[in-house]
Amino acid sequence: MKVVVTGAHGKVGRATVQALLEAGHDVLETDLTRPGFERKEPGAADYRMADLTDAGEAYAVIRGADAVVHVAAIPEPTGNPPHVVFKTNLMATFNVLEAAVRFGVKRFVNISSETVPGFFFPERPFLPDYAPVDELHSVHPQDPYALSKTFGEQLMTAAVERSDIRVISIRPSWVQNEGNYEQNLGPQIRDASVLSPNLWSYIDAYDLADAIVLATESDLPGHEVFYIASPDNVGGHDFAEILHTYYGDKIELRELDRPDASGISSAKAQRMLGWTPKRSWRDYLDADGRALAR
Ligand SMILES: NC(=O)c1ccc[n+]([C@@H]2O[C@H](COP(=O)([O-])OP(=O)(O)OC[C@H]3O[C@@H](n4cnc5c(N)ncnc54)[C@H](O)[C@@H]3O)[C@@H](O)[C@H]2O)c1
Repeated sequence: MKVVVTGAHGKVGRATVQALLEAGHDVLETDLTRPGFERKEPGAADYRMADLTDAGEAYAVIRGADAVVHVAAIPEPTGNPPHVVFKTNLMATFNVLEAAVRFGVKRFVNISSETVPGFFFPERPFLPDYAPVDELHSVHPQDPYALSKTFGEQLMTAAVERSDIRVISIRPSWVQNEGNYEQNLGPQIRDASVLSPNLWSYIDAYDLADAIVLATESDLPGHEVFYIASPDNVGGHDFAEILHTYYGDKIELRELDRPDASGISSAKAQRMLGWTPKRSWRDYLDADGRALAR
């Protein structure tokens, strides 16, 4: 398939492009990076620069695609003014999806976020009702990032109602690769009291990319939403014990499929996408959260 990947030069985009190329797809990358004028490496994807908040630029890159993987966004709400986060994420998603619908693209993969239910960047305290959190959790976003991702998922539902496009929204947990595992997860591996709003969950960038390839190739109709998180938690702690220690009875504990389970369940993706996560923080870090010699 000819697959357009937006946000192709970011953390998730780079892993996604690599996985799609390895799966044999013809990939067009797009991002805000200036294009160069060097000879392309053999097997590398084509690249076109586009600011996707501009509808014309979005239409220009989406034209001719069989599938679109929409990754581009500002990935959290604290580094830019709120209206910039909201406008960038929502308008880029609107324009890319609108172009895909008008050009008859068959499959759209929307990279959403674990933050949609509202428990990552709330201005007023908000905890999940239960853990592991899954796709059935109610949605109460407060911040501009989670709101932009929630509205993005609503745009996807509207698109399948008004056209034949098929959409999968993926809600990744906090994305880790060889460059940031130690910095991001090390402190929490050493000390479970270093709390994260996503309840000690994370996702390996390459396992996430595998899920994105499966979503791109999937025949599932309509709009389906999938959480994608590594099955184990950061530090490999006994989840029931740490949940009780740090949150008391504020979060209902639901059935776990392993003692060191993640605070986010990806059971739906394993069941409906056939996704099998293969990597863990343990492949990169020792029990003290320090990088393994490679
Ligand atoms: N990083 C995480 O932990 C995480 C977790 C959950 C969801 N996500 C989502 O995954 C996606 C990718 O995140 P990431 O970590 O790779 O972020 P990133 O910042 O590394 O990459 C995002 C890319 O989007 C591009 N982009 C931003 N605005 C654009 C615009 N107006 N037009 C075109 N391109 C634009 C950026 O240039 C960048 O290359 C985002 O949708 C993010 O919300 C990320």
